[in-house]
Amino acid sequence: MNQGVKKFLLATVGVWDPIWIQWYRLKSGEKGPIPPFKNRDRIGARDIDWFLRSGAADYRVFRDALDRWEERDLAALSILDFGAGCGRILQHFIPDGPALAATDVDPTAIEYLHHAFPAITSIANQSRPPLPFKAEQFDCVYAFSVWTHLPGELQDEWLAEMRRIIKAGGLVLISTMGYRALKLLREGNNPLESDWHTISDEDLRARGAIYYEYPIFGQDDELFSGISASYGVAVHDPNFIRRAWNDGFEVLEIVEGAFREHQDLVVLRRS
Ligand SMILES: C[S@@+](CC[C@H](N)C(=O)[O-])C[C@H]1O[C@@H](n2cnc3c(N)ncnc32)[C@H](O)[C@@H]1O
Repeated sequence: MNQGVKKFLLATVGVWDPIWIQWYRLKSGEKGPIPPFKNRDRIGARDIDWFLRSGAADYRVFRDALDRWEERDLAALSILDFGAGCGRILQHFIPDGPALAATDVDPTAIEYLHHAFPAITSIANQSRPPLPFKAEQFDCVYAFSVWTHLPGELQDEWLAEMRRIIKAGGLVLISTMGYRALKLLREGNNPLESDWHTISDEDLRARGAIYYEYPIFGQDDELFSGISASYGVAVHDPNFIRRAWNDGFEVLEIVEGAFREHQDLVVLRRS
């Protein structure tokens, strides 16, 4: 898209996005919450239809994993969506009836969640742990595309925090980017991801995990709202995860490409 047109559209988003949302509701009959453009944009889901459909698909992957690994009914569980954004996946868990909580480093996302889902405990967290929860507060935590953006040391710190807040025997479900995502990054043309064009599968096998900070990190307060540490793209070899993520956890399974043939699903059980 022409840069001038793009600038104009972004400057006038407050006018046309509510119209787009109303038009979408009329066309589709959708009655559920639809977040405003600035919240959808932050999580890479500008398109309303994509926001709703990908949310339902990604919810299904987490839900199926819970059906495989959790014997209790979902309505009996306390579940945290860590890095919930504007509830793309969270909203699909509501009919299952668990006690839901959500956190995100982005205060604008939490502001939206308070407004759209007042019954859900939603809290803005800092870039580094801890979360304001008791030890062993949750039966399950899930996180979609959060570890895919964190530098190595923060990945470890947040994994340790998940270990603290999850009950013994509880599940932590995390999406990661593996070889399928690496191929897309290598072949893609997003200027923010050009570091990945020369990274081979062999490089990932040798290094286990690779992280590159976004070149524009620190230059766009809206896009990186709430993030004081580094932010970029992280890719993991599943074998590295099996070796490195088992302190206090059993790695139950890693399903490559589980999320729309793009991100992998990692299922951990707290020992
Ligand atoms: C790609 S978005 C995914 C959002 C949501 N999970 C979804 O699937 O729609 C990544 C989210 O992780 C959040 N995030 C990044 N670092 C975080 C951190 N240290 N703690 C909590 N949330 C974080 C971002 O603010 C953003 O909302």
